[in-house]
Amino acid sequence: MADSNCGCAKGFTDSAIHVDVKEYYGITVKSTKDLQSNACVAPATPLPAFIRQALGKVHSEVISKYYGCGLVVPECLEGCRILDLGSGSGRDCYMLSQLVGEKGHVTGIDMTQEQLEIARKYLDHHMQEFGYKAPNVSFVHGYIEALAEAGLQNNSFDIIISNCVVNLSPDKKRVLAEAYNILKEGGELYFSDVYSSERLTSEIKNHKVLWGECIGGALWWQDLVQLAEEVGFSRPRLVTASIITVDNKELQDILGDFKFISATYRLFKVAKGSSKPCRVIYNGGIRGVENCFPFDCQYTFKTEEVVEVDGDLAKILSSSRFAEDFTFEPSGQGQCGVKAKVSNKDEKDLWLDEDLFLIQEISYGCTGLRSNWICQRLTQLFWSVSLRIC
Ligand SMILES: C[S@@+](CC[C@H](N)C(=O)[O-])C[C@H]1O[C@@H](n2cnc3c(N)ncnc32)[C@H](O)[C@@H]1O
Repeated sequence: MADSNCGCAKGFTDSAIHVDVKEYYGITVKSTKDLQSNACVAPATPLPAFIRQALGKVHSEVISKYYGCGLVVPECLEGCRILDLGSGSGRDCYMLSQLVGEKGHVTGIDMTQEQLEIARKYLDHHMQEFGYKAPNVSFVHGYIEALAEAGLQNNSFDIIISNCVVNLSPDKKRVLAEAYNILKEGGELYFSDVYSSERLTSEIKNHKVLWGECIGGALWWQDLVQLAEEVGFSRPRLVTASIITVDNKELQDILGDFKFISATYRLFKVAKGSSKPCRVIYNGGIRGVENCFPFDCQYTFKTEEVVEVDGDLAKILSSSRFAEDFTFEPSGQGQCGVKAKVSNKDEKDLWLDEDLFLIQEISYGCTGLRSNWICQRLTQLFWSVSLRIC
């Protein structure tokens, strides 16, 4: 498919991967049922009522072409400007349109015309359904590796989301760098994607169907940490994770012992340099998380509770849209703070800790053996996820 007539990304040209991915999502896959794995529809945690209601208002044809792998609804959205990288048929854009409200705005960008056509077809329908006078959603034809060329301004978005798309890009560093540039200072990249247990082999990476299914291009999770740092983001903070299965014998044989998860991370654009740990008190002002704000797998903030946070998180909370929702106190003075629910470990340790595995073996009834990578690592991750339940 030619992009010469699309008015998007003038200098950016398709790689063979872009051509294949466009064909996969524009022609091969017609609906969720056509997918070979659950990578693109991996189960998310139970949805809060306000999100279920918002999704209930999204048109069924848009929903039928949803290929995401997580729930990309960060907190505190009212009035925000959001960009969705690889917006597909627009399900998440139309859901978020209701959460940012009429004064906010959601832009979706995608390179596949067929997907964009579905998204645009229902714009008026959704604006009427939501009772908005002027549309607060727009769709741009372009590449996530070339956001500026697609006409998106630097420092102009509060939040970027993405649902099962970054893995499809042959140049993930460039995607992160472009996202960083167009985020405002204090802005957040909140995205769900597929990650592998190790760096993948060329055989897996070069497999067209595996790439299209969001598996062949999966990043080793530690590479995400490195790329984020190189681009300037804060260290990625893991929010949720769940197992991906491939129910196709031929594909399973190629994948061998590699394991995959769908995970949601939050990355912030905040000033570099060390910051001191401090104590924070959440004031309960954020819609949907009034009693308890599960920030990531390590930190959950109950309203009016004093919590000690590391320097990294102190900086994120005090320089992002969450600043007004917290009171900050220096560490080591006055009343005692509550420690984070999980010891403040490096994430690598979190994945490897045998004790956590034992806890989870009981909690989740996992019958796997210690040598079973997926059981061990993912039960730890599920343990992290379970901390989201207040
Ligand atoms: C797995 S689907 C996910 C779509 C959507 N986020 C959802 O949740 O339904 C991947 C989408 O990303 C788009 N995409 C993949 N690589 C892209 C790129 N480099 N630039 C722009 N869009 C891309 C595809 O066209 C496709 O619509």
